[in-house]
Amino acid sequence: MFDLEQAIKNRHSTRKFLSQPVPRALLDEALALAQLAPSNSNIQPWRLVFAQGVPRDRLQEALLNQAKQQPPYSFGLPEAFWHYRQELGAQVYGAMGIARDDKENRQLALLHNYEFFGAPVVGIVCMHQDLGVADALSVGMYLQTLVLSLTARGIDTCVEVSLAAYPEIIRSELNIPPELSIICGLAVGYSDPDFPANHLHISREAVEKNVTFQGT
Ligand SMILES: Cc1cc2nc3c(=O)[nH]c(=O)nc-3n(C[C@H](O)[C@H](O)[C@H](O)COP(=O)(O)O)c2cc1C
Repeated sequence: MFDLEQAIKNRHSTRKFLSQPVPRALLDEALALAQLAPSNSNIQPWRLVFAQGVPRDRLQEALLNQAKQQPPYSFGLPEAFWHYRQELGAQVYGAMGIARDDKENRQLALLHNYEFFGAPVVGIVCMHQDLGVADALSVGMYLQTLVLSLTARGIDTCVEVSLAAYPEIIRSELNIPPELSIICGLAVGYSDPDFPANHLHISREAVEKNVTFQGT
C-alpha cells in the first residue's frame, strides 16, 4: 500500500520532464484506482485520451505551430484572484531565471506547455459537452485521484489547462469526437531533478481563509 498523506505532500506540478518512458503497467494501476472516483449519479463522466510516441509528437508539433502563430491567451480571472497568478508567475519564472518584465522569455517559457514540458505521455481530459458543473467536479475528483495514484508510484504530472486554448487542433490530431469538450491536458512522466522550478513549494492560504465553521 502507498501512503496517501505522503502522496498528497509529494505531488507538485512538474514543468520539465525526463524522456524516460512511463511503464504502462504503472499507468494502468493508477487508472484502475482513479476509476473508483465518485461522480454525480455515478455517471463517471471523465473521458481521457492518452498520446505517446508518434501521436504525441504530432500533437506537439501542431500545437506549437499554432501557439507560435497565435499566442495563447491567459484564461480570464476575476480581478480578486489576479494576485495569485502574479505570485505563481513570480515563483515559477523566478526559478527559471526569467525576470518579471522579460516578456519575450516569459512567452517562450509559456510555449513549453505545448511541448507538455517534455513529458513522454500526455492525457487529454474531456467530458460530454451537455454535462454541467457538478459533472466537471466529478472529473476533477477523478483527475486528483489519478494524479495522486501516479505520484504514489513515483510518476510526476502537470495539469495543463493551457492545452484547452486550441481544442480544434487536439480534436483533429487525436480524433476526439465533437460531443466531448476538452477540459485540460495532463503531462505524465518523470521529473527532471536538475530543473529548479521542479522543486518549488507553491504556497497555500491558511485553511481559515477558505473554510469556515458555523455552530459547534
Ligand atoms: C485545472 C488546472 C489547470 C492547470 N493548468 C496549468 C497550465 O496550463 N500550465 C501550468 O504550468 N500549470 C498548470 N496548472 C498547475 C498549477 O499552476 C498548480 O497546480 C498550482 O500553481 C499549485 O502548484 P503545485 O501543483 O505545484 O502544488 C494547473 C492546475 C490545475 C489544477
